Amino acid sequence: MSSLIDPFGRQVSYLRVSVTDRCNYRCVYCMAEHMTFLPKAELLTLEELDRVCSAFVRRGVDKIRITGGEPLVRKNIMSLFRNLGRHLDSGALKELTLTTNGSRLKEFARELYDCGMRRINVSLDTLNPEKFQRVTRWGKLSDVMAGLDAAKAAGLEIKINAVALKGFNDIEADEMIRWCGEQDFDLTFIETMPMGEIDEDRLDQYMPLSGLREQIEKSWTLTDSDYRTGGPARYTTVAETGKRLGFITPLTHNFCEGCNRVRLTCTGELYMCLGQDDWADLRSPLRASEGDEALMNAIDEAIGRKPKGHDFVIDRTTQAPAVARHMNVTGG
Ligand code: GTP
Ligand code: 5AD
Ligand code: SF4
Repeated sequence: MSSLIDPFGRQVSYLRVSVTDRCNYRCVYCMAEHMTFLPKAELLTLEELDRVCSAFVRRGVDKIRITGGEPLVRKNIMSLFRNLGRHLDSGALKELTLTTNGSRLKEFARELYDCGMRRINVSLDTLNPEKFQRVTRWGKLSDVMAGLDAAKAAGLEIKINAVALKGFNDIEADEMIRWCGEQDFDLTFIETMPMGEIDEDRLDQYMPLSGLREQIEKSWTLTDSDYRTGGPARYTTVAETGKRLGFITPLTHNFCEGCNRVRLTCTGELYMCLGQDDWADLRSPLRASEGDEALMNAIDEAIGRKPKGHDFVIDRTTQAPAVARHMNVTGG
């Protein structure tokens, strides 16, 4: 079957799937404290999610990342991982992976490895228990630490994702780099993106990574690296620790020209760009028939409207978020 090529000649080979918009945390840059979540009746079933993912695999997608909300809070989610594992066995899928807040890894790490996962991304913005509680509003750092230990013991490679927040964790960057070196974790800093109304002012949070890198280079020797995961991070190697340090810079350096991904939400909406409002309904064609013809047509039509890129800005004159939805809808 033909592969998915968008109007700008980019091949879509990476599907990100948000399996739930719910989360047991309320990170201050991601959500407001009081959020309304989708009614459970609206969700695609795990079988339907498998069907959509498998359709994308047949069209040349070779990397699937499961996100949320927090994916590990969805009931029975392991059965989806177990089923998708068959595409790893067949060789059609090169990577099945996960972005998680780490709070439930203690329970699931071993099973994730058994399903064929080898590398996961864990969101962690600070190593200080009191600050962790402040940034996640509801989280406990010790849960994540226990989860990370379990993941390491299970043989999973780990990348830590930290959203750079001005005056909050920029001052902790050295400590995070040292700790990741000791733990054998890669680390990526991310610029906060203006998605959805939150209770705080994004301008107060926003920390351009060009500045953070300069600060880091006062203490560490960074060498640019060619390493690529198919994600948007640009990596360096930290000479002193030997680990990778990545930077995701949607605001200071737009990387849309190399975009290879689309995002499926838990209700079957396909977003062709993280920074745009346009989406395509895959749930109706999925449910309209048992065969996948209508679904494939809907996917083709959607890829045909993949836009060139986002126009995120965070400055004094731009008050409204670039898109109304919060990050938990698409999981990044
Ligand atoms: P790997 O490179 O495979 O480790 O994954 P990744 O960095 O793509 O995925 P992850 O889930 O760890 O995402 C890290 C951050 O990158 C999240 O905050 C995402 O929102 C952001 N991100 C991922 N894809 C895009 C994209 O296409 N555009 C923008 N602007 N941000 C993205
Ligand atoms: N901007 C940038 N990153 C965000 N994340 C959540 N909300 C935002 C935002 N507004 C991050 C999480 C997680 C990843 C999926 O997205 O911390 O690492
Ligand atoms: Fe939950 Fe992740 Fe959003 Fe934090 S960033 S509230 S952990 S979905």
